[in-house]
Amino acid sequence: MKSFIFLFIYLVFTTNASPIAKTPTANALKICPWDFWAIYIYNAMNDPIHVNVKSEDDDLGDHTLALNENENWSFCENIWKTTFFYASFNWNGSRTASFGVFDHTTTPHCLKTWNFRKASKCFWLVRDTGFYVGPHLTPFPDGWTKLHDWSLVT
Ligand SMILES: *[C@@H]1O[C@H](CO)[C@@H](O)[C@H](O)[C@H]1NC(C)=O
Ligand SMILES: *[C@@H]1O[C@H](CO)[C@@H](O)[C@H](O)[C@H]1NC(C)=O
Repeated sequence: MKSFIFLFIYLVFTTNASPIAKTPTANALKICPWDFWAIYIYNAMNDPIHVNVKSEDDDLGDHTLALNENENWSFCENIWKTTFFYASFNWNGSRTASFGVFDHTTTPHCLKTWNFRKASKCFWLVRDTGFYVGPHLTPFPDGWTKLHDWSLVT
């Protein structure tokens, strides 16, 4: 147990100490050799949620999203299509979730554009009933697919 706590603290500190890459927000125009993506995570709950998004190379930092606020970022997908981002969510310290917000399981639900000046887009909606992905920011539930649940912290 002690070593677990130590590992946890170690991870917290080393994660904070690592440089936070300045990944541009979603509306930044980029010229990508392959696909250009923009991801949006919207909080659709009255309670604020804490979000931390990471990839292999980037830590987008810890953010708190109030009702209807979103976190968004854009990036070039690598040519091998191995680019992924995952997110950790915390709701009141009583519920958590951690999963890939951009990977092979999510992109089939996203909006693929073939215009290189326009980003392909993925939207996430965080609700009390779970996590939904979709190609547009449409009023719930039209166009949304539930992919993940909250886990109760015990
Ligand atoms: C994207 O996030 C930025 C903050 O990083 C925010 O100012 C902007 O409004 C967001 N974009 C949209 C479309 O909400
Ligand atoms: C989160 O906290 C708010 C305010 O303290 C409370 O109203 C709400 O019921 C809590 N939700 C959960 C899931 O714990």
